[in-house]
Amino acid sequence: MLNTLKQTSLFGELEDSELAPIAALCHKRKVPKGSILFYAGDPGNSCYMLLSGKIKIVVTADDGREHILGLLGPHDLFGEMSLLDGEPRSASAVAVEESHVVVIQRDDFLKVLSEKPMIPLKLLSVLSRRLRRTDGHVESLAFLSAPGRVARLLLGLAEDLGNRTPEGLAFETRMTRQEMANLTGTSRETFTRVLMDYQDRGLVVLDRNQYMLKDEAKLRSLIN
Ligand code: CMP
Repeated sequence: MLNTLKQTSLFGELEDSELAPIAALCHKRKVPKGSILFYAGDPGNSCYMLLSGKIKIVVTADDGREHILGLLGPHDLFGEMSLLDGEPRSASAVAVEESHVVVIQRDDFLKVLSEKPMIPLKLLSVLSRRLRRTDGHVESLAFLSAPGRVARLLLGLAEDLGNRTPEGLAFETRMTRQEMANLTGTSRETFTRVLMDYQDRGLVVLDRNQYMLKDEAKLRSLIN
Protein backbone atom coordinates (compact mmCIF):
# COMPACT_ATOMS: atom_id res chain seq x y z
CA MET A 1 0.00 0.00 0.00
CA LEU A 2 2.91 2.34 0.77
CA ASN A 3 4.21 2.07 -2.78
CA THR A 4 0.69 2.36 -4.14
CA LEU A 5 0.11 5.63 -2.27
CA LYS A 6 3.35 7.02 -3.65
CA GLN A 7 1.75 6.86 -7.09
CA THR A 8 -1.15 9.11 -6.09
CA SER A 9 -1.28 12.86 -6.67
CA LEU A 10 -2.30 13.56 -3.10
CA PHE A 11 0.18 11.50 -1.11
CA GLY A 12 2.98 11.04 -3.65
CA GLU A 13 5.43 13.42 -2.00
CA LEU A 14 5.15 12.22 1.60
CA GLU A 15 7.98 10.41 3.35
CA ASP A 16 7.60 6.70 4.11
CA SER A 17 7.29 7.47 7.82
CA GLU A 18 4.37 9.82 7.16
CA LEU A 19 2.76 7.49 4.67
CA ALA A 20 2.74 4.39 6.85
CA PRO A 21 -0.11 5.48 9.17
CA ILE A 22 -2.12 6.68 6.14
CA ALA A 23 -1.52 3.40 4.32
CA ALA A 24 -3.07 1.57 7.27
CA LEU A 25 -6.32 3.50 6.69
CA CYS A 26 -6.60 2.75 2.96
CA HIS A 27 -7.70 -0.31 1.05
CA LYS A 28 -7.51 -1.31 -2.58
CA ARG A 29 -10.55 -2.25 -4.63
CA LYS A 30 -10.93 -3.76 -8.08
CA VAL A 31 -13.77 -2.18 -10.05
CA PRO A 32 -15.11 -4.19 -13.01
CA LYS A 33 -15.82 -2.40 -16.28
CA GLY A 34 -19.24 -0.75 -16.31
CA SER A 35 -19.75 -0.76 -12.55
CA ILE A 36 -20.93 2.31 -10.70
CA LEU A 37 -18.90 3.44 -7.72
CA PHE A 38 -21.55 5.88 -6.59
CA TYR A 39 -24.54 7.79 -7.91
CA ALA A 40 -25.12 11.54 -7.92
CA GLY A 41 -27.15 12.34 -4.80
CA ASP A 42 -25.70 9.50 -2.69
CA PRO A 43 -24.24 10.45 0.66
CA GLY A 44 -20.44 10.68 0.40
CA ASN A 45 -18.66 8.32 2.77
CA SER A 46 -15.34 7.82 1.06
CA CYS A 47 -12.76 9.28 -1.25
CA TYR A 48 -11.03 7.45 -4.11
CA MET A 49 -7.68 7.54 -5.83
CA LEU A 50 -7.49 5.89 -9.22
CA LEU A 51 -4.52 3.56 -9.68
CA SER A 52 -5.29 2.06 -13.07
CA GLY A 53 -8.11 2.11 -15.58
CA LYS A 54 -10.54 4.89 -16.40
CA ILE A 55 -13.45 6.42 -14.50
CA LYS A 56 -16.01 8.78 -15.96
CA ILE A 57 -17.72 11.40 -13.84
CA VAL A 58 -21.22 11.94 -15.22
CA VAL A 59 -24.46 13.77 -14.61
CA THR A 60 -27.64 12.37 -16.11
CA ALA A 61 -30.82 14.16 -17.20
CA ASP A 62 -34.27 12.79 -16.30
CA ASP A 63 -34.64 11.43 -19.86
CA GLY A 64 -31.42 9.41 -19.48
CA ARG A 65 -29.11 11.69 -21.47
CA GLU A 66 -25.65 11.71 -19.98
CA HIS A 67 -23.10 14.49 -19.80
CA ILE A 68 -19.51 13.62 -18.95
CA LEU A 69 -17.97 16.16 -16.60
CA GLY A 70 -14.60 14.49 -16.46
CA LEU A 71 -12.69 11.46 -17.59
CA LEU A 72 -10.22 10.34 -14.98
CA GLY A 73 -7.06 8.32 -15.43
CA PRO A 74 -4.37 6.87 -13.17
CA HIS A 75 -3.36 9.04 -10.17
CA ASP A 76 -6.58 11.10 -10.26
CA LEU A 77 -8.51 11.76 -7.08
CA PHE A 78 -12.31 11.78 -6.92
CA GLY A 79 -15.16 11.73 -4.44
CA GLU A 80 -13.48 14.29 -2.20
CA MET A 81 -16.06 17.06 -2.66
CA SER A 82 -18.80 15.44 -0.55
CA LEU A 83 -16.30 14.76 2.18
CA LEU A 84 -15.21 18.40 2.23
CA ASP A 85 -18.61 20.10 2.14
CA GLY A 86 -20.88 17.39 3.57
CA GLU A 87 -23.23 17.62 0.56
CA PRO A 88 -24.41 14.56 -1.42
CA ARG A 89 -22.32 13.32 -4.38
CA SER A 90 -22.30 15.98 -7.08
CA ALA A 91 -22.10 13.43 -9.91
CA SER A 92 -21.93 9.67 -10.54
CA ALA A 93 -18.68 7.75 -11.02
CA VAL A 94 -18.65 4.87 -13.52
CA ALA A 95 -15.77 2.57 -14.49
CA VAL A 96 -15.26 2.87 -18.25
CA GLU A 97 -12.82 -0.02 -18.10
CA GLU A 98 -11.67 -2.39 -15.37
CA SER A 99 -10.03 -0.16 -12.78
CA HIS A 100 -8.21 -0.32 -9.48
CA VAL A 101 -8.81 2.29 -6.84
CA VAL A 102 -7.57 3.11 -3.36
CA VAL A 103 -10.43 3.95 -0.99
CA ILE A 104 -10.20 5.98 2.19
CA GLN A 105 -13.17 6.54 4.51
CA ARG A 106 -14.50 9.99 5.30
CA ASP A 107 -13.34 10.32 8.95
CA ASP A 108 -9.89 8.94 8.12
CA PHE A 109 -9.54 11.31 5.15
CA LEU A 110 -10.52 14.34 7.24
CA LYS A 111 -8.12 13.26 9.99
CA VAL A 112 -5.23 13.02 7.51
CA LEU A 113 -6.12 16.48 6.14
CA SER A 114 -6.03 18.02 9.59
CA GLU A 115 -2.79 16.32 10.65
CA LYS A 116 -0.62 16.80 7.55
CA PRO A 117 -0.40 20.43 6.46
CA MET A 118 1.01 19.47 3.05
CA ILE A 119 -2.08 17.48 2.07
CA PRO A 120 -4.66 20.33 2.02
CA LEU A 121 -2.22 22.31 -0.14
CA LYS A 122 -1.93 19.38 -2.54
CA LEU A 123 -5.67 19.05 -2.55
CA LEU A 124 -6.06 22.72 -3.47
CA SER A 125 -3.73 22.25 -6.41
CA VAL A 126 -5.70 19.18 -7.57
CA LEU A 127 -8.96 21.16 -7.30
CA SER A 128 -7.48 24.18 -9.11
CA ARG A 129 -6.30 21.98 -11.97
CA ARG A 130 -9.77 20.46 -12.25
CA LEU A 131 -11.42 23.89 -12.22
CA ARG A 132 -9.08 25.09 -14.97
CA ARG A 133 -10.02 22.08 -17.09
CA THR A 134 -13.73 22.62 -16.42
CA ASP A 135 -13.39 26.34 -17.25
CA GLY A 136 -11.77 25.36 -20.55
CA HIS A 137 -14.70 23.06 -21.23
CA VAL A 138 -17.27 25.77 -20.42
CA GLU A 139 -15.36 28.20 -22.65
CA SER A 140 -15.47 25.68 -25.48
CA LEU A 141 -19.24 25.14 -25.07
CA ALA A 142 -19.83 28.89 -24.93
CA PHE A 143 -17.63 30.07 -27.79
CA LEU A 144 -16.82 27.24 -30.18
CA SER A 145 -18.96 25.75 -32.92
CA ALA A 146 -19.27 21.95 -33.23
CA PRO A 147 -16.13 21.59 -35.45
CA GLY A 148 -14.11 23.61 -32.93
CA ARG A 149 -15.34 21.53 -30.00
CA VAL A 150 -14.51 18.29 -31.78
CA ALA A 151 -11.02 19.63 -32.64
CA ARG A 152 -10.54 20.62 -29.01
CA LEU A 153 -11.56 17.17 -27.76
CA LEU A 154 -9.24 15.39 -30.21
CA LEU A 155 -6.31 17.62 -29.27
CA GLY A 156 -7.06 17.19 -25.54
CA LEU A 157 -7.22 13.39 -25.80
CA ALA A 158 -4.05 13.36 -27.89
CA GLU A 159 -2.33 15.45 -25.22
CA ASP A 160 -3.41 13.04 -22.46
CA LEU A 161 -3.03 9.72 -24.29
CA GLY A 162 -1.14 10.34 -27.51
CA ASN A 163 2.14 9.15 -28.98
CA ARG A 164 4.03 11.18 -31.52
CA THR A 165 4.77 9.00 -34.57
CA PRO A 166 6.30 9.88 -37.96
CA GLU A 167 2.74 9.80 -39.42
CA GLY A 168 1.22 12.13 -36.82
CA LEU A 169 -0.05 12.27 -33.27
CA ALA A 170 -1.74 8.95 -32.49
CA PHE A 171 -4.03 7.93 -29.67
CA GLU A 172 -6.41 5.13 -28.87
CA THR A 173 -9.57 5.43 -26.81
CA ARG A 174 -12.23 2.96 -25.74
CA MET A 175 -14.79 5.72 -25.54
CA THR A 176 -17.75 5.27 -27.84
CA ARG A 177 -18.67 7.94 -30.39
CA GLN A 178 -21.68 8.74 -28.20
CA GLU A 179 -19.45 9.35 -25.18
CA MET A 180 -17.12 11.51 -27.24
CA ALA A 181 -20.10 13.44 -28.61
CA ASN A 182 -21.36 13.96 -25.04
CA LEU A 183 -18.01 15.43 -24.10
CA THR A 184 -18.32 17.98 -26.89
CA GLY A 185 -21.97 18.83 -26.15
CA THR A 186 -23.04 17.77 -29.66
CA SER A 187 -25.22 14.91 -30.90
CA ARG A 188 -23.59 11.67 -32.05
CA GLU A 189 -24.68 12.44 -35.61
CA THR A 190 -23.02 15.88 -35.60
CA PHE A 191 -19.89 14.50 -33.95
CA THR A 192 -19.58 11.76 -36.59
CA ARG A 193 -20.27 14.21 -39.44
CA VAL A 194 -17.48 16.52 -38.23
CA LEU A 195 -15.08 13.59 -37.82
CA MET A 196 -15.82 12.37 -41.35
CA ASP A 197 -15.27 15.89 -42.67
CA TYR A 198 -11.89 16.05 -40.89
CA GLN A 199 -11.02 12.67 -42.37
CA ASP A 200 -11.99 13.83 -45.91
CA ARG A 201 -9.83 16.93 -45.47
CA GLY A 202 -6.84 14.82 -44.36
CA LEU A 203 -6.70 16.31 -40.85
CA VAL A 204 -7.45 13.02 -39.09
CA VAL A 205 -7.22 9.33 -39.94
CA LEU A 206 -9.63 7.02 -38.13
CA ASP A 207 -9.32 3.29 -37.70
CA ARG A 208 -11.93 1.99 -35.24
CA ASN A 209 -10.65 3.13 -31.81
CA GLN A 210 -7.41 4.56 -33.22
CA TYR A 211 -7.15 8.23 -34.04
CA MET A 212 -4.24 9.76 -35.91
CA LEU A 213 -4.03 13.56 -35.97
CA LYS A 214 -2.30 14.34 -39.26
CA ASP A 215 -2.49 18.13 -39.15
CA GLU A 216 -2.28 19.36 -35.58
CA ALA A 217 -1.65 22.98 -36.61
CA LYS A 218 -4.83 23.11 -38.69
CA LEU A 219 -6.87 21.52 -35.88
CA ARG A 220 -5.41 24.05 -33.43
CA SER A 221 -6.34 26.90 -35.74
CA LEU A 222 -9.99 25.78 -35.47
CA ILE A 223 -10.06 26.43 -31.73
CA ASN A 224 -8.21 29.74 -31.62
P1 CMP B 1 -18.19 14.18 -5.06
O1 CMP B 1 -19.14 15.33 -5.21
O2 CMP B 1 -17.98 13.63 -3.69
O3 CMP B 1 -18.67 12.99 -6.02
C1 CMP B 1 -18.57 13.21 -7.43
C2 CMP B 1 -17.13 13.52 -7.72
O4 CMP B 1 -16.84 13.78 -9.06
C3 CMP B 1 -16.72 14.82 -7.01
O5 CMP B 1 -16.75 14.60 -5.63
C4 CMP B 1 -15.40 15.09 -7.65
O6 CMP B 1 -14.39 14.28 -7.10
C5 CMP B 1 -15.66 14.61 -9.09
N1 CMP B 1 -15.99 15.74 -9.98
C6 CMP B 1 -17.00 16.62 -9.87
N2 CMP B 1 -16.98 17.51 -10.89
C7 CMP B 1 -15.93 17.18 -11.67
C8 CMP B 1 -15.38 17.70 -12.89
N3 CMP B 1 -15.93 18.76 -13.49
N4 CMP B 1 -14.28 17.10 -13.40
C9 CMP B 1 -13.74 16.04 -12.80
N5 CMP B 1 -14.21 15.49 -11.65
C10 CMP B 1 -15.29 16.05 -11.10
